Amino acid sequence: MENSFEIRRPDDWHLHLRDGAMLEGVLPESARDFARAIIMPNLVPPVVTAKDARAYRDRILSALPEGMAFEPLMTLYLTEETDPADVAQAAASGLIKAVKLYPAGATTNSHSGVRNFDKVMPVLEKMAGIGLPLCTHGEVTTAEVDIFDREAAFIDTVLDPLRRRLPGLRVVMEHITTEEGVAYAAEGGETLAATITTHHLIINRNHILVGGIKPHYYCLPVAKREKHRQALRRAATSGSPRYFLGTDSAPHTDALKEHACGCAGCFTATNTMPLLAHVFEEENALDRLEAFTSLNGPAFYRLPVNEAKLRLVKGAAPTAFPEKIETGAGPVTVFNPGFPVLWSVES
Ligand code: NCD
Ligand code: ZN
Repeated sequence: MENSFEIRRPDDWHLHLRDGAMLEGVLPESARDFARAIIMPNLVPPVVTAKDARAYRDRILSALPEGMAFEPLMTLYLTEETDPADVAQAAASGLIKAVKLYPAGATTNSHSGVRNFDKVMPVLEKMAGIGLPLCTHGEVTTAEVDIFDREAAFIDTVLDPLRRRLPGLRVVMEHITTEEGVAYAAEGGETLAATITTHHLIINRNHILVGGIKPHYYCLPVAKREKHRQALRRAATSGSPRYFLGTDSAPHTDALKEHACGCAGCFTATNTMPLLAHVFEEENALDRLEAFTSLNGPAFYRLPVNEAKLRLVKGAAPTAFPEKIETGAGPVTVFNPGFPVLWSVES
């Protein structure tokens, strides 16, 4: 196990691929290591209907370089106008694997999100009936709630009431960042799971703010205190089926990140697997990496696990990851963990 091991090919249960030139530039970075990914629908305009999702899936597949295999698992962006019948049909045909809830205003391109939950109950009831997961961006957006408390407030004021109202609804708490999120997911039973990003296992809020502001570490939900990062590490490496990888790799060009009003998002598609091997080794849990990246996600989404394998290798010298990916939309900085990483994926 020590210096080289194989796992089933991983999946990414939360990924931003964007569109056009950015899509072309970043897609190979995910397809190189990942077999499938849940594709976030927060384009401008968002992916709202089955028709939108089909067209977006086709654009993703046309952007895939020859010889690369990758299956985009599509999602719809839940709005107050979403038609339950359109969702049900898209799920039945296999086109979509989840619906995404953004509270209006919570993050990048979320203005079409949900304000009034009564308006989306018919869709959510339909989803509960057919077992289609709801992926939640778990932050409240009310101005009086501190940005570091928004996840815990979402659990108490939105998520828990919603799950009590509709106990059959299957929910993925996306990119949890707090010990409250870890604890809530642990107690939710079979209808609840949580994704954890690579970067939230590595940075806490000091990394963003101490010694000068680091725009490439700014993402939403924002990284929290160290005790929360420790809770996320314990959850991810626990082997519990409640937690699995969703990188939330979210490319923005450097011009938009290094800006007076910088965009939220860390781009981790390129080096996620070596970084996770480093983290799991630190936690003495390399034997649980496969559960986190390749087994727990398919189990929750009721999909087969991947047959293909991926080999991680530990070298003597630090792996040289590219500093940036050049895309037709502009350069995108690759997440820099701030420490040497000896692991790499065998190509
Ligand atoms: C995401 C993006 O850029 O689309 N940004 C981020 O910081 N994670 C949106 C999101 O998932 O919140
Ligand atoms: Zn995201």
